Order: sequence, then C-alpha cells, then structure tokens
Amino acid sequence: MELLNARILGIESSCDETAAAVLENGRKLLSNVVATQIDIHAEYGGVFPEVASRQHVLSIFPVVDQALKQAHLGLKDLDAIAVTQGPGLAGSLVVGMNMAKGLSQASGLPLIGINHLEGHLYSSWINEGEDGQPAPEFPLLALLVSGGHTELDLMTDHLTYHRLGGTLDDAAGEAFDKVARLLGLGYPGGPAIQRAAENGNYNYVQFPRSWMEGSWDFSFSGIKTSVLREVQGRQDVVNDGEDNPVVNHLAASFQEAVVDVLVNKTIEAAKMTQAKSILLAGGVSANKALRERLKQTSPIPVFVPAFRYCTDNAAMIAAAGYFRFCAGQRDSLSIEVRPSWRLS
Ligand code: KG4
Ligand code: ZN
Repeated sequence: MELLNARILGIESSCDETAAAVLENGRKLLSNVVATQIDIHAEYGGVFPEVASRQHVLSIFPVVDQALKQAHLGLKDLDAIAVTQGPGLAGSLVVGMNMAKGLSQASGLPLIGINHLEGHLYSSWINEGEDGQPAPEFPLLALLVSGGHTELDLMTDHLTYHRLGGTLDDAAGEAFDKVARLLGLGYPGGPAIQRAAENGNYNYVQFPRSWMEGSWDFSFSGIKTSVLREVQGRQDVVNDGEDNPVVNHLAASFQEAVVDVLVNKTIEAAKMTQAKSILLAGGVSANKALRERLKQTSPIPVFVPAFRYCTDNAAMIAAAGYFRFCAGQRDSLSIEVRPSWRLS
C-alpha cells in the first residue's frame, strides 16, 4: 500500500463517548476531543441506550467543531471523513454517521465507514515514530478486549484480519463491569476493580480459569458466577463505600484470573501463528496488570496504545480511516450503520 499525505477527520459515537479527531498522515494527531457520558450512565450502572443517543445528538456538533478548531483547520484542509459504522448501539451510531454524511455532502470530502474494532487495533499506530516507537510488525497477533468484544485476531497485513477465536459469553470488559457491580464498586467497573486490586491479595481466592482447551475462544461467565457465590457466602463484603479489605482481595483475585487466561492464550496463539508482534487493544488494554504481564511474559514485542487511546476515541477511527483512504476506499452516502458488524 502506498502511504499518502492526508488529513482525516475521525468521528466516533458507537457507545457512550462522542468523539472527533483530526489526524495527519496516519499518525500525527492535530486534535482529539472526547465528550464522555460516564457520569450520566453511572446512575444506571451501565450504558442506557436511549440516553446515550440523546447525549450524542447534543454533543456531536460542538465536539466536531472543537476538533476542527483545535487543529486550526477547516473542512477544505481535509482529505476524508472517517466515521464509525459499527459495531455498537444503533441509535448512537446513527448520530455520528449522519453528521459524517452531512459534512461529506456539504464539503465534497469522501466518506469512509470504519469498523470500531479496527479502530481499536489502529490505536497503536497513532504517534508511531515518536520517541523511537516503531510500527507493529506483521504478521501480528491482536488481543482485542473491550466492553463489548473479546477476540484474538491474526493480522497478516494492513486491514487484513483472520479471527482465531473470541468470547462465547461475556466480553472481558463486561465481566469487569459486572463483577464491579457485585462488589459494590460502581461503574465503569474496569478502573474501579484495578484500583481496589492494588490493595488486595491476588491469591486470596483461586477463581476458576476457563482455558477452553483446543480452541482460541474465551468464556468469562463462570468466573462471574464464582465471584457471585463468594459474595453471597460471606458477611464481610459490604457495599458501604469504604475501603474494604475483602472487596480488595476479591477484586485482585478476579483480575488475576482474567489476566492469567488472556495473557497465556494470547502468547500461545502468537507462538502457533509465528506472529512477529503482539498488539493489545480495546478499553481493557488500559488495565495495568494486563499490560505489564503481557509485556513481561511475551517473547516477542508487545504494542499497547497510550492510555488515552485505549478507551473509545476518534483518533483511532481516523488512524484506521487513513489506511483505508490509502487503500482507495471511498464509501457512498447511502452506507448504513452496522450494529453487529464483525471484524473478519
Ligand atoms: O473500548 P471501550 O472504551 O468501549 C467498547 O468498545 O466497549 O471499553 C470499555 C470497557 C469497559 O468495560 C471498562 O470497564 C473497560 O473497558 N476498562 C477497563 C479498564 N479501563 C476500562 N477494564 C479493566 N481495567 C481498566 N483499567
Ligand atoms: Zn471501543
């Protein structure tokens, strides 16, 4: 693929963040704006779809406007508009998509529909070359762990994916969110579990590991049930908002079990596929224990996005959009959102 000079506006609205960013030549970030709805959804203990789409409607104009202003650019200075087409919440995706279509029609800029999961994978290319950070090398084995997805994909080249396996039930992030609720730790669960686990003993309970031998699939519903049983069988897991040592131990033991399975299966899959590098992506890639364990254990280079690009953002959509732009993709204004779109 010939790499071109291009400035891409990225737009993301698949879940509970409204985001826009301008990226130059696939890696130089000129602006990155994220309006999060976390505080609004925390009240419900999870993302409330109707509330999310209404918030996107309120935020999309100011967020895109701010991204252009921060970059000191107008639409005429750009080369394409990349927008998340799926997967995600239908009512939320539509808001970003309509914004992108409107801008494309008004400016004549090409529209490029992006798979949100591909965006997560491309977050490791943002700022490539800075601080001597090299680009990930193909073939690479990607572990994608977010609130809605958990899968292992082999990436043989840019934009080329082969799915090895994925979760049969809960996504890893979903397991973090549900267990956090069981432990009274609030929403979003991932950062809350990580914080509690810092003061806990990860050997306190040996939670079961679902290895799913003979496949590259995952399952996290068993461990969630085990945490529930542990909580129900004790009097000392109280949800009083105070620092509770038992809650910390259970959080640490849960996180340890999840990290153990994710890291071991990823490294095994990398060996089997003779991958040259491993790429960690998605909201759960912000987890410090997961990042550190993978880096310590892997015999090949591990790429993890900077913390600010782990959870949903539009810089990653613009990064994927850049490579699709270079590959010649131009979508028509009649493309529709794809709420259950698979990566491969
Ligand atoms: O990628 P993302 O922002 O949204 C989706 O595409 O789903 O991922 C959100 C998920 C949530 O489940 C959240 O609990 C989890 O990522 N997460 C974490 C951490 N930060 C966010 N999980 C574990 N440890 C973290 N530090
Ligand atoms: Zn995401």
